[in-house]
Amino acid sequence: MEKKPQESRQDLGRREGPPAARLLLAVALTNALLYLCLDRFFISPRQPPVDPRHCPHGHFRMGHMETCSPWLSCEALRAEVRPLKRVGEGAVKRVFLSEWKERKVALSRLTSLEMKDDFLHGLQMLKSLQSKYVVTLLGYCEDDNTILTEYHPLGSLSNLEEALNLSKYRHMNTWQHRLQLAIGYVGIINYLHHSPLGTLVMCDSNDLPKTLSQYLLTSNFSIVANDLDALPVVNHSSKAFVKCGHRELRGDFVAPEQLWPHGEDRPFHDDIMPSYDEKVDIWKIPDVSSFLLGHVEGSDMVRFHLFDIHKACKSQTPAERPTAQDILDTYQKVLNSLQDTVMSQTREML
Ligand SMILES: Nc1ncnc2c1ncn2[C@@H]1O[C@H](COP(=O)(O)OP(=O)(O)OP(=O)(O)O)[C@@H](O)[C@H]1O
Ligand SMILES: [Mg+2]
Repeated sequence: MEKKPQESRQDLGRREGPPAARLLLAVALTNALLYLCLDRFFISPRQPPVDPRHCPHGHFRMGHMETCSPWLSCEALRAEVRPLKRVGEGAVKRVFLSEWKERKVALSRLTSLEMKDDFLHGLQMLKSLQSKYVVTLLGYCEDDNTILTEYHPLGSLSNLEEALNLSKYRHMNTWQHRLQLAIGYVGIINYLHHSPLGTLVMCDSNDLPKTLSQYLLTSNFSIVANDLDALPVVNHSSKAFVKCGHRELRGDFVAPEQLWPHGEDRPFHDDIMPSYDEKVDIWKIPDVSSFLLGHVEGSDMVRFHLFDIHKACKSQTPAERPTAQDILDTYQKVLNSLQDTVMSQTREML
């Protein structure tokens, strides 16, 4: 009777083999598992993202809402939305974190009546461009000069480094995720250049901080365009070009064709300032992407691979600059090939 457990322990020992062999088996199994799971540690760029919020025009869905709701009317906005605290302000809007049906939302109020045209232009753009590239519109009231949009707690793209320092997002601070952000940003520019309203230029972007403030960082670490108050349309066939504002622009963040071309001696005059096209957005992409890539291990390797396309973006001749689609394709290729390299190196090490 007493022998039984001993026998079974011996049987077990025989089945498992000596300790060294067991160790080898465990290592081999771990390696195989790691190898199989490797893909999960890398972003899988080949699957096009589906827009989970898709609703018919004039409706929205956000968070865990099961069905689409119609945009909130003036009455609903007045009765159901409670402003809590101010979270942002620009030249056109004052933005309040607010509450609607126990959900956090963003209520934007016009700052001054002088800016009403820009406010209405922005609202019109928000209504027409609802897609995965643009912040979700929840409602508006032109009589009260208010717009209600989805609230994004991480705020604008200017907060990227702070967000990546939060323990929740620290694992996202890799060249892969940062390049993915740059892909998202160029994806938005590409969408605007091929929008349902035609070729739109992101004009409110005369320096890097201003540009970053027009985009929001979502909680799943993607980018959406938020401030669409200055999106003039370019029409190449009718030779209708644009000017970003009526004042003189300076500095090298803006494209060279946006600068006053008649020298210091001649004072700036909007009437004789030449207009330009969407290639001004392309000029700015290397600077925004470089900010997004930041300074983590691998960022410089990515910068090196993007050197040629970024050089082309900085061509003095607008027509020689690549399109947003060309840049998107290059970024995607670089992401795929660098991921493949890293994966094969990791596999070799195992
Ligand atoms: N939905 C939102 N969720 C979180 N923060 C937001 C949201 N909308 C706006 N903000 C914050 O408010 C800031 C100002 O918003 P916005 O750019 O729309 O204002 P604006 O007056 O149009 O700006 P500008 O001076 O560029 O014209 C943003 O940069 C961002 O920090
Ligand atoms: Mg803004």
